[in-house]
Amino acid sequence: MAPSTSQLYHHLLLFFLVFLFHAQQCPAAGGSWSVLLPSIGISAMHAQLLPNDRVVMYDRTDFGVSNISLPNGACRPNTTDCSAHSVEYDVASNTVRPLMVLSNVWCSSGTLMPDGRLVQTGGFDDGYRVVRIYKSCDSCDWQEIRNGLNQQRWYATNHILPDGRQIIIGGRRAFSYEFYPKMSATENTPSLPFLVQTNDPNVENNLYPFVFLYPDGNLFIFANNRAILFDYSNNQVIKTYPTMPDGQPRSYPSTGSAVLLPLRITKGTVNAVEVLVCGGAPKGAFVNANKGIFDGALDTCGRIKISDPNPQWVMETMPLARVMGDMLLLPNAHVLIINGVSAGVAGWELGRNPVLSPVVYQPDKQVGSRFEVQNPSTIPRVYHSTAVLLRDGRVLVGGSNPHDKYEFGNVLYPTELSLEAYSPSYLDSNSSDLRPKIILPVKNTKIGYGKQLVIVFTVSGIVDPSSVSVTMMAPPFNTHSFSMNQRLLVLDGGVAAKILGKSRYQVVVTTPPSGNVAPAGNYLLYVVHKEIPSPGIWVQMQ
Ligand SMILES: *[C@@H]1O[C@H](CO)[C@@H](O)[C@H](O)[C@H]1NC(C)=O
Ligand SMILES: *[C@@H]1O[C@H](CO)[C@@H](O)[C@H](O)[C@H]1NC(C)=O
Ligand SMILES: *[C@@H]1O[C@H](CO)[C@@H](O)[C@H](O)[C@H]1NC(C)=O
Repeated sequence: MAPSTSQLYHHLLLFFLVFLFHAQQCPAAGGSWSVLLPSIGISAMHAQLLPNDRVVMYDRTDFGVSNISLPNGACRPNTTDCSAHSVEYDVASNTVRPLMVLSNVWCSSGTLMPDGRLVQTGGFDDGYRVVRIYKSCDSCDWQEIRNGLNQQRWYATNHILPDGRQIIIGGRRAFSYEFYPKMSATENTPSLPFLVQTNDPNVENNLYPFVFLYPDGNLFIFANNRAILFDYSNNQVIKTYPTMPDGQPRSYPSTGSAVLLPLRITKGTVNAVEVLVCGGAPKGAFVNANKGIFDGALDTCGRIKISDPNPQWVMETMPLARVMGDMLLLPNAHVLIINGVSAGVAGWELGRNPVLSPVVYQPDKQVGSRFEVQNPSTIPRVYHSTAVLLRDGRVLVGGSNPHDKYEFGNVLYPTELSLEAYSPSYLDSNSSDLRPKIILPVKNTKIGYGKQLVIVFTVSGIVDPSSVSVTMMAPPFNTHSFSMNQRLLVLDGGVAAKILGKSRYQVVVTTPPSGNVAPAGNYLLYVVHKEIPSPGIWVQMQ
């Protein structure tokens, strides 16, 4: 018997209710994605969040004509290219403004300076030794210092130092380091034999080394498959860490990534300092990829407590193998692994099988239950893609261009000009009751070292005072799957929250003890409640 109209209607209603119920049971547990802009005109290969919530991005000057023109009919001096290769993205208005870089910024590096300027160094060809400065404002543009570097720096890594300068380490056939600004015009360029020792001349498997400032002022430097603790002032290796147990390379072009795990400050000290290195491509993968054989990426991470007297790597297995993945610290002290592919290596046309799902790693959980796969994007972000945390907790994802020019046509992984946002699950609407909002300090508050800081925040729902912490994030420079100068501090004192009035709470924390733990500069301050971070507030350590 055929169903009547009312029966059909009933069935439809039932179906709809079941669907609703189902949708409510399984909302975006693993975060969500949205396209912010289908084209920003360039392919975001390098990116830095600035303290005014703009993100400066650039690709390279020899890609050909981009999809965004320079303003007022301008062309790059001595060229016929009137397109921009750098843009500034404004988070609030979701718009981009074209900028003019003069020399080739391809595969360069950089770091935000204490005064909020991006100082970016090196690149290719006419850009090898250039220092470029970007100070953000509505009409600002890049300034260039020709011959600002002593040596050519292409694929180098930069890090901010406690004295407010930045160090620039390595680069292709540059087994040395130098500083910006220099103490004097004749300041030399000390050699770094570790970069010779870790260099396989056939592969050059130690580019874009992973560099972190250790809280005693020395630098942790990882290249290829091993690391040292380095005193750059005296050009001395303080400690040599064991080689990763599997011996597999993790640096460009076997591009894995690395983070300094969140630094927990207790009574003015950081007791445990740990580094996590994830993904990469096995030995031989570069040679194979150049022959058209795409080896599976590494699915392992190595974690090492570098503050131990006898540090050892502990290996863990990721749910998804990945090369060219970005590792980002999130404000709630979790680690996001995002972008990349599961076969091949970094380089033109050398990656295959995009990994569309990010993974969250929770450092404090038990081994075996730390990884959680998140909801996928639909857009491959392969070689030359970027990921940057925004103040509001979203992750800006852009770029991807495995070709040596802009290729929008019928090719594998066309040049990607779009900008997406990945919203981690802490931004799910069912968390809004728990989400703190910072009332004090107000933005751009100046903060000294080792001081008491009163933080006032609101939460609309019920607060668990024992689940409140306060974190500070240094905004990193991101390129080639590594975030230079990335650092998250978990401040001392953020356990008890006192009720001041209706849904107002106060927590008193101690600011970081020194410039070794937190170099001067701009940080994002977050209140985290039950692992849900507030929107950040910009503060200035000084
Ligand atoms: C929000 O919903 C997701 C999916 O059901 C769940 O995993 C998560 O724990 C929820 N968050 C809160 C704060 O209830
Ligand atoms: C270039 O930009 C225009 C808008 O300005 C857009 O319609 C077009 O899709 C873009 N091209 C690509 C390849 O994204
Ligand atoms: C353009 O060429 C002129 C003449 O060769 C030179 O003086 C000038 O520095 C060049 N400008 C740039 C930005 O390269």
